[in-house]
Amino acid sequence: MRRDDHHAPQAGVARAELSELPPAAGQPERSVSGGLQTWRERLAFLRGFVAHPGQVGSVIPSSHVLEQRLVRSARLLRARCVVELGPGTGGTTRAFLRAMPANAQLLAIELNEQFAARLRTSIRDPRLTVVNGSAESIDRFLADHGLPAPDAVLSGIPFSTMPREVADRIAAEIARVLAPGGRFVAYQVRAHVADYASRYLGKARKEWELVNIPPVRVFTWTSGS
Ligand SMILES: C[S@@+](CC[C@H](N)C(=O)[O-])C[C@H]1O[C@@H](n2cnc3c(N)ncnc32)[C@H](O)[C@@H]1O
Repeated sequence: MRRDDHHAPQAGVARAELSELPPAAGQPERSVSGGLQTWRERLAFLRGFVAHPGQVGSVIPSSHVLEQRLVRSARLLRARCVVELGPGTGGTTRAFLRAMPANAQLLAIELNEQFAARLRTSIRDPRLTVVNGSAESIDRFLADHGLPAPDAVLSGIPFSTMPREVADRIAAEIARVLAPGGRFVAYQVRAHVADYASRYLGKARKEWELVNIPPVRVFTWTSGS
């Protein structure tokens, strides 16, 4: 898999502030219902949903408000290595990159081939590695790219619609790869993810994010806590 270039963060501007800046020329626009997105991106996401509804699990990408909650819950401002499961068309991916330090790495694992191909061409950032594959193989993908144990794994993949054995394998894999004290943050309409991940990571902190279509639960686990 290849590592793509992306817009470098703006020098001299704190990353927390960067996410509050207006989009640069040629960058997608921000909206409450869909974060930083173009209509083209929303259409691509909708097409992905129509083709694979159970796999994509939502008709519209995450909101900007949800993106910022995820950034805080996963403590991305001080992360060194981050894994994103199910980046979709990349709204969350861009938000994570804006928040992450300049020397951090983001491994984005996307099952949908069209979404993965789109991410490689639309996001150019040397910190980003896009892999087309399943979250069941996080450990192998990290090793393939010489990446260390992640400080954070963020996931929007729908645990409620996948086969139980797949969901269980993914939860076990996340618990296995996380660095000590690392965070697993999952945003989901349903609570199935908690049944799987709590087996390996213990009790989660649970919150609701209402400024999203639809409102979602945000679960946060801390490895070793
Ligand atoms: C609800 S969408 C989230 C998209 C984006 N992160 C957002 O929040 O707008 C879920 C994504 O997970 C991907 N996905 C589903 N199962 C997966 C798996 N086993 N491994 C990796 N990605 C998966 C889908 O293709 C889809 O892009």
